[in-house]
Amino acid sequence: MMAFAGAVNVSVAQTVLYHAGKSTFDAHCAVCHQAGGIGQDGLAPPLTGYPGKYAGVAAGRQQLTVTVLHGMFGEIRVNDKTYNFRMPSFASMSDEELAQVLNYVVFDLNAQHANAKPFTASDLKTARGQELDGSAVHARRALLTKRLGL
Ligand code: HEC
Repeated sequence: MMAFAGAVNVSVAQTVLYHAGKSTFDAHCAVCHQAGGIGQDGLAPPLTGYPGKYAGVAAGRQQLTVTVLHGMFGEIRVNDKTYNFRMPSFASMSDEELAQVLNYVVFDLNAQHANAKPFTASDLKTARGQELDGSAVHARRALLTKRLGL
């Protein structure tokens, strides 16, 4: 019985690289994006495909940092679905917390991440200084996804 339960756990649970990031995600992000970032139709997009693609290019890395710091507002398309709700700003979290939650999203939730380097607190510090609102972050995303062919 024990051996059976253990075997089931091994088959479903993946190794988590960013534990602090996972805790933050489960406490603050999963309410909309769902556990494991699978998304929720009509509410919040999945985070299991695009962030990994963003993380390989400088503009995409900046996009991820400004999204968590300043939020995003306006219709977006992910794969074949549209979402149009408000991503809140998480500027009240520390640079380190946000770097870790982005690392959890990029490296634990995305199978592909184009040899991207992990985020550090200094990446967040740079983005924090930028005066952007959710609509500006949304406009940047449109340019990025076009450039990446998403
Ligand atoms: C209140 C619901 C809500 C919460 C909580 C939330 N998000 Fe979001 N998130 C959204 C919505 C909605 C969008 C899409 C915004 C839009 O339509 O413009 C989004 C977009 C994103 C994107 C951009 C995806 C893309 O393809 O460009 C990322 C990355 C992201 N969220 C990460 C997070 C992280 C990390 C957290 C926790 C720190 C979080 N979100 C918490 C609702 C939420």
